[in-house]
Amino acid sequence: MKLLYAVCHLLSLAPWLVCCVPPIWTQPEQVHLSYPGVPGSMEVTWTTFNSTNSTVEYGLLGARLFDTSVQGMSTLFVDSGDEKRAMYIHRVVLSGLKPASTYVYHCGSDEGWSEVFYFTALNDSLLFSPKFALYGDLGNENPQSLARLQKETQRGMYDVILHIGDFAYDMHEDNGRIGDEFMRQIQAIAAYVPYMTCPGNHEATYNFSNYRNRFSMPGQTEGLWYSWNLGTVHFISVSTEVYFYLEFGLDLLFRQFAWLKQDLEEANRPENRAARPWVVTMGHRPMYCSDDDQDDCTRFDSYVRLGRNDTRPPAPGLEDLFYHYGVDLELWAHEHTYERLWPVYKDKVYNGSTEHPYVNPKAPVHIITGSAGCRERTDRFNPHPKDWSAFRSTDYGYTRMQAVNATHLYLEQVSDDQDGKVIDSIWLLKDKHGPSAWL
Ligand SMILES: *[C@@H]1O[C@H](CO)[C@@H](O)[C@H](O)[C@H]1NC(C)=O
Ligand SMILES: *[C@@H]1O[C@H](CO)[C@@H](O)[C@H](O)[C@H]1NC(C)=O
Ligand SMILES: *[C@@H]1O[C@H](CO)[C@@H](O)[C@H](O)[C@H]1NC(C)=O
Ligand SMILES: *[C@@H]1O[C@H](CO)[C@@H](O)[C@H](O)[C@H]1NC(C)=O
Ligand SMILES: *[C@@H]1O[C@H](CO)[C@@H](O)[C@H](O)[C@H]1NC(C)=O
Ligand SMILES: *[C@@H]1O[C@H](CO)[C@@H](O)[C@H](O)[C@H]1NC(C)=O
Ligand SMILES: *[C@@H]1O[C@H](CO)[C@@H](O)[C@H](O)[C@H]1NC(C)=O
Ligand SMILES: [Fe+2]
Repeated sequence: MKLLYAVCHLLSLAPWLVCCVPPIWTQPEQVHLSYPGVPGSMEVTWTTFNSTNSTVEYGLLGARLFDTSVQGMSTLFVDSGDEKRAMYIHRVVLSGLKPASTYVYHCGSDEGWSEVFYFTALNDSLLFSPKFALYGDLGNENPQSLARLQKETQRGMYDVILHIGDFAYDMHEDNGRIGDEFMRQIQAIAAYVPYMTCPGNHEATYNFSNYRNRFSMPGQTEGLWYSWNLGTVHFISVSTEVYFYLEFGLDLLFRQFAWLKQDLEEANRPENRAARPWVVTMGHRPMYCSDDDQDDCTRFDSYVRLGRNDTRPPAPGLEDLFYHYGVDLELWAHEHTYERLWPVYKDKVYNGSTEHPYVNPKAPVHIITGSAGCRERTDRFNPHPKDWSAFRSTDYGYTRMQAVNATHLYLEQVSDDQDGKVIDSIWLLKDKHGPSAWL
């Protein structure tokens, strides 16, 4: 007996036994929410490694737990890495939710249930003043702002989170395990409020398949471009990456452009713009920036801003389109810094007035917020920024925004380095929206 024990010990059988207890592949993980764009709805997305049913059980906070049960669907996602790791992505849309009511839910199947989470159904009133946290470039390693965002989100400070591209660094790495790891990290945020996304360059591997498979955004484009409404805001999310990864299809660039034109046309119909005067865009790579990183803003004219003339046919950029349709605010990331710009069009500043540049500005306002924290750390600034650069910071952090009402929108920058201090803030005031506001 003693000898056997010794032999086992020698061969390290104990760890071998531990490692071979079969994991529970039917257990839900990586739970996150998104807003499908239909008032009174919420989508729950999660992962299992074996095929299971897709069920969400939920109920109003304070009422009987889980009195409603909804079935959804799962799709098999096979990562394109060497191991061809397979996982099931489950999606369930909850509908008919009572606006502004809090629900308790869990998800999974009779082969395994998630932890219990809660969310507040978005208030669908045009008078609602939603609060956002927004940032780009948050990684699995060195996610500086994550803890603060987790705490603030769980305390109810935000209605929606916007992640403006570049996730995990990179989701496809280690055969998709970095993607799994990252989705587990953001669960402490994303299982409580809708987590709305757009693709960045770090998602490009295997034609953005990790991005397209893991998130569930409105529309039929696998989250590449889409729009949705909340309070007084019409939000448009775009893929700036269609200007860079032509190998995945130049048609994507033209399809997005055509869709954008139509979406902006619709948003500007007088009755729509009257109801939702703010048009806010988000996309990963900025049109303007002053980082010293030899990237597209500083080294050559931005493809996103001006388009490309080396494609057949030439590809139109987004600056003229957004200006023409009176986009109020453009949110970007990619540069691992924070930068606020004076109202700008065609490289020229169009302040509302010198004393009050953001009161009735004569061009769109741009914010670049890509300093949430990732393994690439923060970037350095070019010491001689152009006239349009209003405020810059290399601190880790993120942006808060509140669309207060038809005339008032507030933005502030949180420094994680300075223990959550607000280091920049503006009120954007507009009596008039749409292209006529520029005149
Ligand atoms: C369950 O998932 C594991 C890990 O992906 C896989 O090895 C196994 O074949 C799966 N089993 C079934 C029944 O699908
Ligand atoms: C999955 O759902 C179907 C239909 O509701 C049900 O018949 C089946 O028993 C469920 N399977 C498991 C493993 O729970
Ligand atoms: C939604 O927000 C509006 C504006 O703040 C408020 O008047 C209304 O009561 C809210 N709706 C609900 C159901 O709480
Ligand atoms: C890349 O993915 C997009 C979105 O699914 C698809 O339309 C396109 O055809 C794909 N490109 C290639 C080269 O497979
Ligand atoms: C093509 O675009 C580049 C900037 O991206 C510009 O420098 C060049 O002059 C343009 N060429 C033509 C023929 O318009
Ligand atoms: C815009 O306003 C800011 C703040 O008052 C000022 O510093 C800047 O010079 C103005 N730019 C122009 C072109 O008027
Ligand atoms: C919009 O919000 C601002 C800031 O809270 C407030 O001063 C203003 O009176 C509001 N306007 C309307 C029409 O309620
Ligand atoms: Fe990026």
